[in-house]
Amino acid sequence: MRATSFFSSFLLSQLAAAAVPHLAAPAVPPPATYVIPKGRVEGTTAADSVVGVTAFDGPHISVNNGSAYQWWYFDAVSPDADTIVVAQFYPGWLPDASAILLNVVYPNGTLIDQKIPAGALQLSTTGDGSQGYVDNGAMTWFGASDLSAYHLTLDLPEVGISGTITMRSKAPAHVAGGLNVPGASFDYAPFLAWGNPVPDADATVDLVVNGTSLSFTGTGYHDQNWGAATYGNNLNQWYWGHSSVGIYSLVFFYHLDEELNVTSSGYLARNGEPIISGFSNVEVTPQGPGTSVPLVNGATIEGWEVRINDTQHGEFLFNIENTVLTSRDRIYSRYIGRTTGGPVGGGNQTGVAVVELMKNRLMVLQGLQ
Ligand SMILES: *[C@@H]1O[C@H](CO)[C@@H](O)[C@H](O)[C@H]1NC(C)=O
Ligand SMILES: *[C@@H]1O[C@H](CO)[C@@H](O)[C@H](O)[C@H]1NC(C)=O
Ligand SMILES: *[C@@H]1O[C@H](CO)[C@@H](O)[C@H](O)[C@H]1NC(C)=O
Ligand SMILES: *[C@@H]1O[C@H](CO)[C@@H](O)[C@H](O)[C@H]1NC(C)=O
Ligand SMILES: *[C@@H]1O[C@H](CO)[C@@H](O)[C@H](O)[C@H]1NC(C)=O
Ligand SMILES: *[C@@H]1O[C@H](CO)[C@@H](O)[C@H](O)[C@H]1NC(C)=O
Repeated sequence: MRATSFFSSFLLSQLAAAAVPHLAAPAVPPPATYVIPKGRVEGTTAADSVVGVTAFDGPHISVNNGSAYQWWYFDAVSPDADTIVVAQFYPGWLPDASAILLNVVYPNGTLIDQKIPAGALQLSTTGDGSQGYVDNGAMTWFGASDLSAYHLTLDLPEVGISGTITMRSKAPAHVAGGLNVPGASFDYAPFLAWGNPVPDADATVDLVVNGTSLSFTGTGYHDQNWGAATYGNNLNQWYWGHSSVGIYSLVFFYHLDEELNVTSSGYLARNGEPIISGFSNVEVTPQGPGTSVPLVNGATIEGWEVRINDTQHGEFLFNIENTVLTSRDRIYSRYIGRTTGGPVGGGNQTGVAVVELMKNRLMVLQGLQ
């Protein structure tokens, strides 16, 4: 599938170039503007599945109708793995409103986990980057056309939160099956497409929460998920995470479908150069008393072991020790952790991680997970 679509887009661009030389396919998608109305919109939509047709970080579905979904996710973690800010823009979270999903943990453990109703999103794209403005400036972001930097602002007087997060990317964008190259596929699993514009970044956070400042420099990350139906279709459990570990930038996905078939994808960059990126190269194992894959009720998740390899670079092992459970939803939990690892038998590095565990909503409601 991927090879075919790459080949046909290659042919089309060659034909266009032959017929009208000055209209040869541009190296980057043309600038575009969009308005994503607040709340859910009736209609049907396709989900973009091919890289290079529109901006990498632009919208990838045309209506958020309650089952078709997309969200823009940003996080920043402190070097001590005790502080985090996660801001997500989720169009159509509610029937008549979109939402900013905000999760903040202070160094003293105070936790904010709020879903704040929000209005329409005006979005433009230049090159691969997106620039978003949520009504009244509640959340804005400005992504560089080459994805090298993102600047995010929050202005949420109703919850007493305002401030900025700035990210300078440390590793190139990618998709589950490889790098950000025209013709690559965004598809990860059924109803789950994914692009990772910023796998790892130097981040600066400057927030004020009800008059108290929360500032740190640490590690940042930005991705986008979308699909033509909820990702919970054909899902048992899904482990996702990223870690900045010394000279390494690590991103991993581990998805178990209803029959417990595994789809995995791992990305590892060293000093900003991607050395491993693709499917079926990573194993993610929850650690702690009573843990198994899939996780069953009652397990105590103390951390995660991540093994990633390829034939050229060999095997790398990273151990993530959870420090804070930042979001306690039964279906969707998020951890901050401390990472130790590197090449097996080689020099270990240390760093910080964010890991999420997503479960099948129906199975949770039926008490099966
Ligand atoms: C939403 O869009 C998807 C994809 O086109 C479609 O399958 C689904 O039926 C739509 N849902 C509603 C409620 O319109
Ligand atoms: C934790 O820090 C926040 C921000 O400074 C403050 O509002 C809160 O009262 C503190 N909580 C505790 C338990 O000290
Ligand atoms: C800020 O203070 C208001 C009023 O006391 C409170 O309702 C709100 O939850 C606080 N915000 C946060 C993020 O704690
Ligand atoms: C799981 O894998 C088996 C063997 O490849 C396949 O027959 C089956 O359709 C897969 N299950 C799902 C739910 O995709
Ligand atoms: C690499 O990792 C995958 C997934 O854990 C595993 O199936 C494969 O055997 C490993 N390959 C090597 C060469 O270690
Ligand atoms: C390196 O890190 C891995 C994963 O945390 C650990 O299993 C291994 O023992 C460490 N090696 C050394 C030499 O500390």
